[in-house]
Amino acid sequence: METKRKFPKGFLWGAATSAYQVEGGISKNDWALSLQISPAGQACDHHHRFREDFLLARKLGHNAHRLSIEWSRVEPREGEWDEEELHHYFHVLEYLKENGFATFVTLHHFTNPLWVARGGGWTNANTTRHFAAYAAKIAQSLGQFIDFWVTINEPNVYVNKGFLQAVWPPFKQSLWQAYRAYQNLFRAHNQAYQIIHSYYPKAKVGFAAGIPYNEEGILSRLADWFNMDFHFKRTRNDFIGLNHYFYNPRRGQRRKLEYADNGWPIYPKAILEVLLNLKKFNLPIYITENGVADAVDAKRADYIRNYLRAVHQALKHGADVRGYLYWSLLDNYEWPTKKWQTGYEYKFGLIEVDFEDSKLPRKVRASAKVYAQICKNNGLS
Ligand code: BGC
Repeated sequence: METKRKFPKGFLWGAATSAYQVEGGISKNDWALSLQISPAGQACDHHHRFREDFLLARKLGHNAHRLSIEWSRVEPREGEWDEEELHHYFHVLEYLKENGFATFVTLHHFTNPLWVARGGGWTNANTTRHFAAYAAKIAQSLGQFIDFWVTINEPNVYVNKGFLQAVWPPFKQSLWQAYRAYQNLFRAHNQAYQIIHSYYPKAKVGFAAGIPYNEEGILSRLADWFNMDFHFKRTRNDFIGLNHYFYNPRRGQRRKLEYADNGWPIYPKAILEVLLNLKKFNLPIYITENGVADAVDAKRADYIRNYLRAVHQALKHGADVRGYLYWSLLDNYEWPTKKWQTGYEYKFGLIEVDFEDSKLPRKVRASAKVYAQICKNNGLS
C-alpha cells in the first residue's frame, strides 16, 4: 500500500488555459491574422461557455484557475479600450471568485494585438510603454479579482519560436532581434510589476518561466543558467511561476522513456530537479503549467500522479511549492510549429472538447476524476 502524500495546507489545485487557445472569436491579433499559420477560429467557444467550464472545474475539486486576458480584445486599437470586452472579463473573474477559485491572470500569453505587431512588436521599445498602459488598465478594471498576476508567459519560448526559429509570429531569425525582444519583455515585466503594486501594494506578481530539465553537460548548465538566472536576476518577482514539460536526456542516454502524443518525453524526476534548482531564488513557487498530450487518456492519470509524487518529494527537500495548475482544463488550440498543422491535433485537456460541434456538452476524462480526488484530498493517497 502506498504511503499518503499530503500537501501543505492551503495548497492551490487547478488547471490553466490561455485566451487565444480556448476562447474563440479572437480576430485582431498577430496569430489570427497571420497568413503563415492556421488560426484558432472558434476554439472551445469558452468565451461563451466559461460558466459551464468553471462549474466543471469546481466539481472536479479545483480551487484555483489560471487564464489569460486577450490584449487585442480589450485594446483593439492603440489607446482605445473596449469597455464591453473589459466587462466580459469582469464577469469571468467575478464568476471565478464567487465560486471560490484563487485566480492567476496572465497578461501576455504569446499573442499581440495587430496594432502592436505592426508597430514593431517586442523589438520596439514603445511596446513596453503600451504594455504598461495595458497593465494599468487591467489593474484598474479587474485588479480586485486577481490574486496572482502572471505578466508574461514563457519569455524564453516566445523569443525562441518568434525571433530565432521563425515558426511563430513575427517569424524572425535574428540574434539581435531576439536580444532586443528579451530586453523589452523584461522591462515590460518590471514596469508592470511596479504599476500593479501601485494599485495593489500586496499584489503577487510574477511571470511564467518555461523551464525544462537538462540532464548533464556544460551546455546544459548554460541552458539552466539562461532559463533561470538570466530571467530571475533581471526581473522583480513575488513568486516564481513554473511551466514545466520538457526533459533533455544526457547524450547517449539509453533510458527507456514513455512519450506524449506530441513526442515529448515523460520523466517525472525532471520536475523534481527543476524545483530543487529553483530553491536558491528563495521565492514561493507555483506550478503554472504541467501536462501531457494524450488523446486516448491512457497516460494522463499516471502522468499527474507521478509528477505530483515528484513535486511532493521536492516539498520534502525544502522547495516552497504552493500550487499546481494542470495544463490544460480543456482540449484546446495548440500553437502550430509546422505548415498545415491545424492546432487541434494534440489533446492536453482534463476535459474533452468537440471542435466540430461547439454546442455539444463537454466530456470529463477519467484522468480528470483521478486528479479531482487528489485536489479534494489535498494529496495523493
Ligand atoms: C504554453 C501553452 C501550450 C503548452 C503545450 C506551453 O509552453 O504556455 O500555451 O499549450 O506549452 O504546448
